[in-house]
Amino acid sequence: MGRNVLYRDLAEYYDRLYQFKDYRSEAREILRLARRFLGRPPRSLLDVGCGTGRHLLEFARTLSVAGVDRSAEMLRVARRRLGPRVPLARGDMRHFSLRARFDVVTCLFSAIAYMETRRDRDTAIANFYRHLNPGGGALVEGWVRPSRWRGTGGDLITYEDRDLRVARVTSSWREGNHSVVEYHVLIGEPGKRIHHFAQLDRNPLVEVEEMLGSFRRAGFRAKALLHGRYRDRGMYVGVRPSDS
Ligand SMILES: C[S@@+](CC[C@H](N)C(=O)[O-])C[C@H]1O[C@@H](n2cnc3c(N)ncnc32)[C@H](O)[C@@H]1O
Repeated sequence: MGRNVLYRDLAEYYDRLYQFKDYRSEAREILRLARRFLGRPPRSLLDVGCGTGRHLLEFARTLSVAGVDRSAEMLRVARRRLGPRVPLARGDMRHFSLRARFDVVTCLFSAIAYMETRRDRDTAIANFYRHLNPGGGALVEGWVRPSRWRGTGGDLITYEDRDLRVARVTSSWREGNHSVVEYHVLIGEPGKRIHHFAQLDRNPLVEVEEMLGSFRRAGFRAKALLHGRYRDRGMYVGVRPSDS
C-alpha cells in the first residue's frame, strides 16, 4: 500500500470523518500565536499540507492566504471550498517553490509526520524558512511525541447521512522509533457496492529536541508548546530573525 493513497481515496470523505475537529478555534489560536511573534496581526499565510482547506477557510477571513499539498484529490476538495481566488499549488513540502513570501507558514494536523528521515524534515523546514518574510514564523504541529504515544486497538469513527455511510477503523502500535497506524475505511452509498480501502502508515516518533534541531539548522529561533491541545503532538514555533 503506497504512501498517501490514503488521502487520494479519503479526500471526498475526509471532512465528514473529521467533522468533530474544531478548525475555527485552532485557526484563532494560530493567529494569536502569530500576532505574538510578529508584534502585529499577520497579513499573509501559507498553509503547507493544507488538505481540504478547512484551516485556510478560517484564515482567509482576515488574511491573504495560499495553500500547498501533495494530493491532487485533497486540493480538489479545497478548491471547491475556497473558490477560485485562493492560490493552491500541488507540491511536496520539501521542494515546492512559490514566488511569494508570507508572514506565517503553517503545517498542521501532523502533515510533517510524512517526513520519514531527519534529512527530509530538515529540507521541509528549511523550505518553510525560505517562504517567510524576515520576522515571520512557521507554526508546525508535530506528530505524537514518543513519550505520549499510546497504541490503539480498533478505534472507530463513523459518519452517516441519508446518502452516505462511512466507517473508519484504526489500530496502531509502535515499532521502535516509529508509529504504525493501520486504517480501514468502508463506504456505503445507495445503489453502489460497498467500497473499501486500507493503508498502513509508518511515521517517525520524533523527540521535541530533534524537531527543534531541524528548525535551528534552518536558521529559526524555535520553541515548542507542549500544553493544552498541543500536549501530545507539540506545536513548534519557529521565528525567522528580522535581520535575516
Ligand atoms: C492529516 S492531513 C492534514 C490536512 C490539513 N492540514 C488538516 O488539518 O486537515 C495530512 C496532509 O498532508 C499532505 N501531505 C502528505 N505528505 C505531504 C508532502 N510530502 N508534501 C505536502 N503535503 C503532504 C496530505 O496529502 C494530507 O492532505
